[in-house]
Amino acid sequence: MAFIITALRRIGRGIFSRLFEAVFFASLLFWDFSLAIVNTFTFKRKIGSVTPKGSPGEGGVWPKYTPPSEGDSRCSCPGLNTLANHGIISRDGRDISFRELSDHVRSTYNFSPTFSLFVPRFIARILKRSYRTGRFDLADIDVHNGIEHDASLVRRDTFLQIHQGLPDADLVAALIKSATGPPPKKKLASLDDELRDPLPPKDSPYFHVAAQVAKATTDFDLNRTLTPRDLSRRLGQRRREAQADNGQYSQDTGHKMFGSSNASTLLTIFGGRMDDIYTFLTLFAFNRTVFRVELGIEEEVNQSLHLM
Ligand code: HEM
Repeated sequence: MAFIITALRRIGRGIFSRLFEAVFFASLLFWDFSLAIVNTFTFKRKIGSVTPKGSPGEGGVWPKYTPPSEGDSRCSCPGLNTLANHGIISRDGRDISFRELSDHVRSTYNFSPTFSLFVPRFIARILKRSYRTGRFDLADIDVHNGIEHDASLVRRDTFLQIHQGLPDADLVAALIKSATGPPPKKKLASLDDELRDPLPPKDSPYFHVAAQVAKATTDFDLNRTLTPRDLSRRLGQRRREAQADNGQYSQDTGHKMFGSSNASTLLTIFGGRMDDIYTFLTLFAFNRTVFRVELGIEEEVNQSLHLM
C-alpha cells in the first residue's frame, strides 16, 4: 500500500510540475511577444539614459574593473564574468542569488525582463536549486550540456579544456577576425586614462589569453562590425571543428538554439561593434598597444632565457 501511495504521489507531482512549466512558459512567451509589440510602437531610450537610476552604470559610470584573481569563480559566460569583474555581482563570483542575477542582467545589459527571468530560472532548475531562494558560484553553471555545450564560439569543448571560464585565444582571435560588417555608426566613447583597466598578473592565464589575442589581431582594424552572417559562418565552422576534434561531441537542437542565442547577444547588446566586443571577450578594457609594447620588451625575453 505504501508503495502505491508513494508511486501515485510521485506521478501526481510529476504531472503537476510539467503542467506548471508549460503554463509558465506559455505566459512568458505571451509576455515577451507583448513587449515586442509595445517596443515596436514606442520610442527608444536616449543613449546615456538606458541604465535605470540607482543601478551600477547609471550615466555611464561603471564600477571599476578588477581582473579575476586566483580562487575566484568564473564561467563559460562572458556576460556573467563581466558582471563579476566589475563588482556588479560578487567579485569572487561566489554565492550569487539567482533572483539578484535576473535584476543585474536586466539593469546592466538592458535585457528584457522575460530573458532576465527565463535564463537564470532555467539554470537554477538544471542545478536542482530554487530560483527564488537558491544561490550559486559562477563555475556551477558550466554543468556540461546544461546550457554550456560543445562547439562554442570562444571556448574549447569541456572534453579538451575542463576550465570553461578560460576563453581560448585562437578562437577569440578567429571570431574577431571574422567580422566583415561596416564601421559602427557611432564613435566609441574614449576612456579616461584613470579608468583604463589594470593588467592581470603576468602569471595569470587570463594575461596570456589577452596577450595572445592582441598579438594575433595586431593588424586587424577593429573599426568594423560583426554581422548575423559572420556569426552563422563562424558557428558552422566551430560545429565542424568540434565534431572532428572531440570524440565525445554532442549537440542537440536546444543547445544549438542556446549557441545561436548567446552569439546573438553580440549583435543585440553590443550592436556587433568589434571595438566593444574585443574588450568584452578578452576581459580587459585597455588598448591593444599596451600588449604590443609589453610583448616587445627584449629584456623580458632575454631574462627568461637567462641571457642577461
Ligand atoms: C542571464 C543569465 C545568463 C546565464 C545563466 C548565461 C549562461 C551562459 C552559459 C552557460 C554559456 C555557455 C554556452 C556555451 O557553451 O557556449 C553562455 C555563453 C554566452 N553568454 Fe551567457 N548567460 C547569461 C547571460 C548573458 C548575458 C547577459 C550576455 C551578454 C551580455 C551573455 C553572453 C554570452 C555569450 C556571448 C556567450 C557565448 C560564449 C561562447 O560561445 O564561447 N550571457 N552563457
